[in-house]
Order: sequence, then structure tokens, then C-alpha cells
Amino acid sequence: MSQDRLIIFDTTLRDGEQSPGASMTRDEKIRIAKALEKMQVDVIEAGFPIASVGDFEGVQAVADTVKDSTVCGLARALEADIDRAGEALKGANAGRIHTFIATSPVHMERKLRMTPDQVVEQAVWAVKRARGFTDDVEFSAEDAGRSELDFLCRIFEAVIDAGATTINVPDTVGYNLPSQFGETIRQLVARIPNSDKAIFSVHCHNDLGLAVANSLSAVINGARQVECTINGLGERAGNASLEEIVMAVRTRQDIFGCDSRLDTTQIVTCSKLVSNITGFPVQPNKAIVGANAFAHESGIHQDGVLKHRETYEIMRAEDVGWTQNRMVLGKHSGRNAFRSRLEELGVDLGSEEELNVAFARFKDLADKKHEIFDEDLQALVTEKGLDAENERIRLVSLRVVSETGETPNADVTLAIDGEERSVSAEGGGPVDAAYRAIEALVDTGADLKLYSVNNITSGTDSQGEVTVRLEKGGRLVNGQGADTDIVIASAKAYINGCNKLLEPAQRAHPQTGDV
Ligand code: KIV
Ligand code: ZN
Repeated sequence: MSQDRLIIFDTTLRDGEQSPGASMTRDEKIRIAKALEKMQVDVIEAGFPIASVGDFEGVQAVADTVKDSTVCGLARALEADIDRAGEALKGANAGRIHTFIATSPVHMERKLRMTPDQVVEQAVWAVKRARGFTDDVEFSAEDAGRSELDFLCRIFEAVIDAGATTINVPDTVGYNLPSQFGETIRQLVARIPNSDKAIFSVHCHNDLGLAVANSLSAVINGARQVECTINGLGERAGNASLEEIVMAVRTRQDIFGCDSRLDTTQIVTCSKLVSNITGFPVQPNKAIVGANAFAHESGIHQDGVLKHRETYEIMRAEDVGWTQNRMVLGKHSGRNAFRSRLEELGVDLGSEEELNVAFARFKDLADKKHEIFDEDLQALVTEKGLDAENERIRLVSLRVVSETGETPNADVTLAIDGEERSVSAEGGGPVDAAYRAIEALVDTGADLKLYSVNNITSGTDSQGEVTVRLEKGGRLVNGQGADTDIVIASAKAYINGCNKLLEPAQRAHPQTGDV
């Protein structure tokens, strides 16, 4: 691999999905993976196959679908994990196994209860086992950011000898500072005798808000793969954000001796898709993909940009995919136009039945909303999934009365396991009244941790997209709903969250298990 190429390893579907409430279905993973492939991401980490049957099937489906990017599965340095990852990746054109073990003193002593010698031995064994499935094996030293440099040199040299082709240096807890992290990478590359036999990679978490800065400092010091996620999605404060890394490197070619192959015009589409599927909104002032990222409010800036764009803009909005909302379909569009636009967006509806359900929803929406944009279509297929008819709780009807000086009231009818039940409730506002009514019927006892409304497109007829986060017994789920009526969107989101709480939670977390 030439030194002027920066490999982009996207872990939205694995580390991003570890964000509480961000879990995705197999079909949602496929949609995101296709968008990442279209953007020419080099490596897509699709999941942790041993975690659950759903995770295994998600990785398998992405491996079978994606052809132009390498598909990667995560595995602890354990036989069962590695074999499961190898199995999930069988259909891939190019498959990578990413195996890891912790290397910091605190993790080795307190979590693994292993000596450094045992950790090296296990890592070497794991890499060799993974090489039995594929020639493309990545090794990560979990918590490398708090590990001793000498020990990192030792373990990395040993795993490269054992066949690891990528060496990943994660700052798992987001503890490092840019100058220090860059120096760690420089030293590793300089001191490890066989460092030229592997690509050095970094994986930074954002606990101190430094994930992107640390990653870029690592690139300046020799890293040639960056692990990142769309919108910086990820546990706690998230991972390094793909769009910021890619645009920093592209914009500052005077500083970086390398560039990625990404088609950056796909960035905004990917960002909206991930936000829509996970229900994690993008803050308006977020770099590159926030709604205000290219908006010049002040008169001086507007004047400058009109006279000469480069006075206040260092990137062009169109280079990252910002375009005016484009009407794509309307009330009179037929099934074929609908299907082909969805296909262009990477949505494969599979069966005719699913197409019928989606098309009926589209017609409903087109009756309420004159122009349908791509974002509306994405929301329409994401919202509750297309098998909503099979969900245990369904919204049958909702009527709210909200009037100046009166207490808002909601009448709600739900179908719960096929049986229709109705109730009326009052609340502080129409949404509160609707939520009290739904809760009176479903009795989840969950705490509402977050409620947010965003407009999907612009204009007062835009659909409102509502995200709720519910917590019950330590478990967090996100619920989403979209509608031109935000009270209905809110009810759908709450019901979606309740349905998720009814599903069994049975996923293993990669970083909490013992080796
Ligand atoms: O943050 C981390 O250390 C990880 C590893 C599994 C790479 O996600
Ligand atoms: Zn991580």
C-alpha cells in the first residue's frame, strides 16, 4: 500500500452501534453498508458476530452484499469469536477479521487477570487462528492509549510476525492528547523492527473531545488507517467522526502526506441516513454535516462569500453533498418510479408485499405533503421498519384536543397483541397527554430520557421526525416516528420504543467479556 493513501475504516455498524439505543436491524445495516460502499469507504466493520444471532446475520448479510469495500468482523482473541467471525465473512469478496485483546496494566490485571506474557501468547495465537480464515487480519491492543510503549512494541512485533497485516492503536477511553498520541505512533513505527510489514491504524474515542485531533496527529506521524464513524456515533462521547477526518485531510493537503479515496459528495447522504436509522440527531453546528455548517448568518460573511467564496469558506458545500432539497416524487408518481428511486437510495424492498406496504405509506404521505424528497423516503422506510404490521403494539388512532386556556386531552386506541384498547388522558401539552394515554395502555414503567423533534426537510409541511429514548431496568432503547403531524410522530416514536423494550435484549458487549 502506497504511503500517500489513507485507509478509511468505518465502524459505524460496530462501535457506532454500541451506542446505547443505536442498535440496527440487519436490513438497516445493509442500507448503511451500501451507502458506505458507494462513498468508497475502504473497510466496513459490520459487527461483532459472536455477540448474538442478529449480529452474526448482520455481518453475514453485509459480507454477501458489499463487493467494493472490505467487510470486517470483530472478534476477541478467543477461538469461538474468531471462528464465528470467519464463518460470517465467508461470502465476502474481501473479508477481514479484527481481533483484539487489552494491553494496559489496569485492563490486564483487573479485567483479564492475565500476565503480560499470557496476553502476548493469546494475541499471537488469535492472529494465527484468524489467518486460517483470511489473509487480512487486524490486531488491536485495547486501551493502547494507557498501555506501556515497550509492551506495545513487544506485542505488535509478535503479532506482525504471526501474520497481522494491520496494527490498530485504540485510545479506548479517550485519554490521550494530540501531541502525545502522535508521538506514540511515531515511536511505534520507528521502534518496531517489522513495522514496515503492517499498516498502522488508530481508533480514537472522544471523551475529551479530541478523537479527531488525536487521529489527525497520528496520521501526521505515520498512521495510514483511521477508524471512525459517521457523525462520530459511538459509545459515551462517540468515536472520531469520519466526515471531519476525511475533510480535514482533503482540505489540508499542504500538511498531510496522504489522502483517502472517498467520494466526499456522499457524506451528507450517509450522515442523514445514519441519523435517520439510529435516531441520533446531528447538532446544527456540527462540522461538515450540521445544518448550519455552511450557513453564513452575519452580513459581513454573506457579503464576503458573495463577492468571493473563499473569503469565508474553506470547503464547498457541494463537495460534501449539500444540495438544495430536490423534489423526487409526488402524488402522481407510480410504483415503478417509487421502487427505482428507493433502489437508487440503496433500499432493497425484497418482496412485493414489502413494496406494497411502503408504496401505500408513500401515497398516504403524498396526500399530506405536496413534494416528497429523498429524506422523506428514507424516513418512510426506516420508520418502524416495513414489518410494522407485525409489531406487538400498533397505533390505531389518536385524537388530541389542544386549546388556549384548556387542559390538552388525548384519546388513543392501540392494538396490543391484536386486541384493540382505548383510553383518554390529560397532560401538560398534547404530546404529554398522548404519552400518558399510551403509557396507561401499555404500562411499560419506562423513564423517558430524551425527547427530540427535527424537521426532515424544510417548510411547514415537512415531516417531523421524533426520537425518544426510554430507559427501563438499566436498558436504553431509542424509538422513532415520522409524520407531518408532530403529535402523531411523537406517539409513533413512543410506541416504537415500547416495542423495542418488549424484544429480548440478548447481545454480548465485546469489551466487557473476559478472555
Ligand atoms: O475502543 C476500542 O478499544 C475498540 C476496540 C475493540 C478496537 O473498539
Ligand atoms: Zn472503540
